[in-house]
Amino acid sequence: MVAEVAAWEDEFSPPADSVLWRKDFLMGAATAAYQIEGAIHEDGRIPSIWDTFSATPGKTLAGDTGEVACDHYHRWQEDVELLASLNVGAYRLSIAWPRVMTADGRSNPKGIAFYRRLLTALRAKGLKTWVTLYHWDLPQHLEDRGGWVNRETAYRYADYADMISKELAGLVDAWATLNEPWCSAMHGYGTGHHAPGKQDVKLATQAMHHLLLGHGLAVQRLRANDPQAQVGIVANVGRGTSTDRGAAGQRAAWLFELQHNNWIFDPLFKQSYPSALWELWPGAAPATEPGDMAIIGAPLDFLGINYYFRTNVVSDGQHGYTEVDLDGVERTQMGWEVYPDGLRHLLIGFQHEYPKLPPIYITENGMATDDQVVDGEVDDRQRISFLNRHLEAVTQAVKAGVDVRGYFIWSLLDNFEWAFGYERRFGIIHVDYATQKRTLKRSAKLVTRFLAERAARN
Ligand code: FCB
Repeated sequence: MVAEVAAWEDEFSPPADSVLWRKDFLMGAATAAYQIEGAIHEDGRIPSIWDTFSATPGKTLAGDTGEVACDHYHRWQEDVELLASLNVGAYRLSIAWPRVMTADGRSNPKGIAFYRRLLTALRAKGLKTWVTLYHWDLPQHLEDRGGWVNRETAYRYADYADMISKELAGLVDAWATLNEPWCSAMHGYGTGHHAPGKQDVKLATQAMHHLLLGHGLAVQRLRANDPQAQVGIVANVGRGTSTDRGAAGQRAAWLFELQHNNWIFDPLFKQSYPSALWELWPGAAPATEPGDMAIIGAPLDFLGINYYFRTNVVSDGQHGYTEVDLDGVERTQMGWEVYPDGLRHLLIGFQHEYPKLPPIYITENGMATDDQVVDGEVDDRQRISFLNRHLEAVTQAVKAGVDVRGYFIWSLLDNFEWAFGYERRFGIIHVDYATQKRTLKRSAKLVTRFLAERAARN
């Protein structure tokens, strides 16, 4: 049973007090390299952990891989035109490390030229360029030497950040060092749901430390090489609640959020790991070196937040928690609960917990629906309703004093949804993978119309 179906709307019409009416509130759309580019063997690109992982039987739904994806590497001009037609102010993309750097650490001119062309075209359309340096596609040769569990990878990542920010300086409005280090560390090395598919929490905590160290080292290089650009990081955040109102249930919910949010935000904004983590995972504290936390905790210009759903948890009877699905709630094609209030709640909570928090951008929010093209149209009204409700949550957070300056829809295009392959459709633009035809969904058309109206009013 879907409880809130009645709430699905067919209009995107933010109320008069919505932050969306502010002309300086940045609206954008987001993608990531491996999820859209394809062309994995072209122009000197070297293998990444996602090539290896997705080619391994049983790792992705239907064995899907990013080999072709949305063929964006060849169709980028069409995609830039589409993006510009939406009236959005910004595009968040990621650079594929394996495309721009060779295995011996030299730059790959052909790969770099691709991004230079893309960023130049975006700028020419008046779009702000938000560039993520690492959206999960680690070069495979680095994984062969331990990947993020190996401290050396943090330094190789900083070299990459150094090289690419010199090459692209002046073309980027905002650099995000990492996308969702929680997923890279936990799903990559803890649960094994993502590449490279390792399953050991001790590896995950060590990987997290090296991801964050790499982030801090990269911040130094980005600031030196491209002083005009903003520098930040993108983190996924999780709202945890418990139907058990007792102390055990509330502790479980607290632990869930500690593990998802504070594990990353404490090092970034307090220069330490929350000690309760090592009660949750006894013996799993990472090896660190003197000075690491100061590097990790360098001041940032922005914090990107990716929010998708709420998780209900109960105590596991020991030192941890177990997830228990709630009945009768609205869910997306991913099975994720639609819970806009979690975003409002988390934003306000972070503002209180972290006095050093920089301005926030919602760098990803959106949902997967099983969209079909019928007579040339895609009626994605659950997504329209989802966007309305989450933007209202952002408005409420801003009213409560949180400094949120923009919002990026995930995603511009239907794309390769990692372990779930092509079945799960997150785009506001539909992609027919057989023909690569793009079709604007109703959500895209309504957002476009609204942004035109906003531009006309201001
Ligand atoms: C986030 C990822 C993004 C996309 C969405 C649905 O965790 O950053 O690439 O897969 O989830």
